[in-house]
Amino acid sequence: MQRTPPDILPVDWPIEQAEPSWPTEQALDRATRVLIAGGLVAIPTETVYGLAAVALDSMAVQKIFAAKGRPQTNPLIVHVADVAMARSLAGDWPAAAETICELLWPGPITVVVPRAAIVPDVVTAGGSTVALRCPEHRLTRRLIAKLGVPLAAPSANRSLGLSPTTAGHVAESLGNRVDLILDGGPCRHGIESTVVDCTTTPPRILRLGPIHRDQLEKVLGQSVVITSFHGEGTPSQIASGAVARSPGMLVRHYAPRTPLQLSTCSAQCIARLVQSGKRVGWLTFQDEKSQLTALAASPSVIILPMPLDPDVFASQLYATLHAIDQRQLDMIVVDMPPATDAWGAIRDRLTRASIGPQEKDSRSHDSSTTHTNAFEETA
Ligand code: TXA
Ligand code: MG
Repeated sequence: MQRTPPDILPVDWPIEQAEPSWPTEQALDRATRVLIAGGLVAIPTETVYGLAAVALDSMAVQKIFAAKGRPQTNPLIVHVADVAMARSLAGDWPAAAETICELLWPGPITVVVPRAAIVPDVVTAGGSTVALRCPEHRLTRRLIAKLGVPLAAPSANRSLGLSPTTAGHVAESLGNRVDLILDGGPCRHGIESTVVDCTTTPPRILRLGPIHRDQLEKVLGQSVVITSFHGEGTPSQIASGAVARSPGMLVRHYAPRTPLQLSTCSAQCIARLVQSGKRVGWLTFQDEKSQLTALAASPSVIILPMPLDPDVFASQLYATLHAIDQRQLDMIVVDMPPATDAWGAIRDRLTRASIGPQEKDSRSHDSSTTHTNAFEETA
């Protein structure tokens, strides 16, 4: 029998209000009931929407993997209401985790720490560590506090696709694979949290995100390593265990359905594509008046000016790519962002998105492709 599409319930909690409105409380009550019964609820966070199940309920967590088509070898982030809940899930509490939680939580940063025995194997993919995050989104924290138990929640999209930054994106990607969607509006940051392995010295960034390395180094008062996520890793990374520590970081990830190219000379690249009859979307830093003019006149090119501020760019990136996917174009060309720490997470996501499905298991990059080595391990 065909299941009906999930309900999408609006939730809102204006900052000036001490308590959420009654319809929002009712929506949270309903979400609580679905979760306690072992169901899946899509939740808003400040990064991207999550697909949540009660983290201590192995059967419910299994449903997340099935709904996403996610390999069981890829562990999930556990979302908590506060530091006390986080510590109850950790076998050991490294000093770096303590500092991050004290100074950057609630917020878009996830700490990887040794796990406690109560965390089910299915959550950690059988590993000895668990990833923990306390979201800044106060409705989601309210939901977790109401439940009194943590929520396992990966991004609420089918595996390898773009993360959702609106409730509509979730419905489009997961359809009736999710029981209920809480619609908290567009996500503020728009890219996934920074993931930091606190079990090593120095701590290691496993996934670049809204909290940049320099911010983290300032908070921790020590240097932090960034791990390369390209493919199966270099021999030295494999030897150091860096790759095994970030099992979810597949080469191709965060990708729209339309093929994407990152380019340092977009105008020429697009001119060639148009000549060969292709329809192209261009995410560009150029302003309308410069070299855009000629291409802008072409009906085969859709120009999407993007902001020069990396945080604003991040908040718009996935929504823009989701929207372009609806236009059924042949190619998306994106101007290569600057090679600075502030753009690191965006360059990481775009690089992964630019790798074709046929290349996902290969690291044989030829120098004419748009792949960069920007994320090789750096101390
Ligand atoms: O912003 C976010 O982090 C969003 C929202 C919903 O919180 N969540 C998210 O989850 O992006 P997901 O599952 O799409 O990405 C989690 C990443 C994966 O690459 C996974 O491999 C990694 O975190 N991860 C999870 N547990 C880990 C662990 N114990 N050790 C190392 N990496 C881990
Ligand atoms: Mg994801």
